[in-house]
Amino acid sequence: MALHNTNPTNTLAWQKLQKHFQEMQNVSMSALFDKDNTRTSQFHIQWNDFLIDYSKNIINQETLDLLLELANEAQLKDSISKYFDGDIINQTENRAVLHTALRAKETSIIKVDGENVIPEVYEVKSKIKSFTNEIVNGDRKGFTGKPFTDVVNIGIGGSDLGPAMVVEALQYYKNHLNVHFVSNVDGDHVNEIIKKLNPETTLFVIVSKTFTTQETLTNSETIREWFLKSASQEDVAKHFVAVSTNIQRVTEFGINPDNVFPMWDWVGGRFSLWSAVGLSISLAVGFENYNELLAGANEMDEHFKTEDFDKNMPVILALLSIWYNNFFGAESEALIPYSQYLQKLAPYLQQGFMESNGKSVDRDGKPVGYQTGTIIWGEPGTNSQHAFFQLIHQGTKLIPTDFIGFVKPLYGNEDHHDKLMSNFFAQTEALLHGKSSAKVQAEFIKQGLSEEKAKFLLPFKVFAGNKPTNTILIQKLTPKALGSLVAMYEHKIFVQGIIWNIFSYDQWGVELGKQLANSILDEINSKKVNSHDSSTAFLLNHFLNNK
Ligand code: F6P
Repeated sequence: MALHNTNPTNTLAWQKLQKHFQEMQNVSMSALFDKDNTRTSQFHIQWNDFLIDYSKNIINQETLDLLLELANEAQLKDSISKYFDGDIINQTENRAVLHTALRAKETSIIKVDGENVIPEVYEVKSKIKSFTNEIVNGDRKGFTGKPFTDVVNIGIGGSDLGPAMVVEALQYYKNHLNVHFVSNVDGDHVNEIIKKLNPETTLFVIVSKTFTTQETLTNSETIREWFLKSASQEDVAKHFVAVSTNIQRVTEFGINPDNVFPMWDWVGGRFSLWSAVGLSISLAVGFENYNELLAGANEMDEHFKTEDFDKNMPVILALLSIWYNNFFGAESEALIPYSQYLQKLAPYLQQGFMESNGKSVDRDGKPVGYQTGTIIWGEPGTNSQHAFFQLIHQGTKLIPTDFIGFVKPLYGNEDHHDKLMSNFFAQTEALLHGKSSAKVQAEFIKQGLSEEKAKFLLPFKVFAGNKPTNTILIQKLTPKALGSLVAMYEHKIFVQGIIWNIFSYDQWGVELGKQLANSILDEINSKKVNSHDSSTAFLLNHFLNNK
């Protein structure tokens, strides 16, 4: 069954929220805290190893009630059932959206076209397990009989970002295999990676759902050519494996059909790390850890599916984001993990959020009359504090920010961790309260500043504060916790798409650039520039004349 089609701005809740916004837009969060010291107990969620404190937001109970009303009017509950049950909710591509089935329990029954997909999912999982064990234990060997030391994941977008992010994030759990990622069609990058490799001991995992992606095919061909300088055509089958839905194209490339890990069209690229697309994760950290990652995601799925909306982490995070995006006019959101391991989390989630919800036509095919997808960006703290935090603190833009931190460090270095976490807590407090002119003046007096100097400096040193943040405090960075964290954001994307009444699971916008690039490549190859706008023609001619 299709999703409901409700223009959010026509709901009663939206109209009430618009009115309510007039009352809230200038409210001081500090004043809200002063007035009510139970605020945090009202606005936090504790679940498994997660604690989310969302009390540092410009909201009161009425805001939350109205946002929940909006979710109900948008029929969120029913949409969640359709999402998990495998209904065709990706209507423009006529597909179900079932990355959740990839991490479901073996006893689950999830049907696509009347067929339970779980047995197939578990068949591929067991193939991932045995393949991983053979490579990690050195039982499967390269063409000269040596065990594998390096793995190269060749893929782009969802076939790269998820595995690359997780392998980086779970470095602590890694085995001896060196895992590399080649994504960009930039030949210089491929050459830099190749330089580090020995063809005798390197396994190549080509990941492409469609097996038609220009970047991935070009990189794979270049790498195969390099490989064939030391090995024979038959050796390709020993060193190249693939993850794809397009078995025919994969075998045409020379990959042994036994070394193909299938995936399904009901798994979107940007949500595919839970499928065999995560093979390089399993190779890097072992199947048990990979399975734990999936188990963590499944626990979050259960939470999202069954928990009341007022205690439901993805729902609350999505609603808060809508509050700022659609009522305060915030255009972007920052995501700041206080863990260097999570340095690729924001780039990974950029695809999730921006490819999914970067849409301007509603589910009725009409242009939306309201803002949709937010811009997501971020870098780990404390590095980001020394880079762009100035703008979050004192700039003119409102940037709601998620702070993600862990109670325990992995190597047990308490001194570093306490310093790291003191920054984590300090930043959300500074963003909440800012610094009043009275406080700044008191400091000036203490420093013995002249009246004239103090008067000049005062406006620059005052921080307005009142900047909203969510604090996501997790016990420890384990594979399971990471799985839950990623799934939490996936469901936030879903909730936003439902309320904005858009289709979150297609990505037609990416296609135009691909088509144009292909026809421009023909012009470059034939050295003949066809008709373009004058800027593009000028640039192309410059390129051709100087290459
Ligand atoms: O950029 C568009 C896109 O289709 C992404 O959604 C996808 O993750 C990526 O390209 C790679 O696609 P494929 O896995 O088919 O090579």
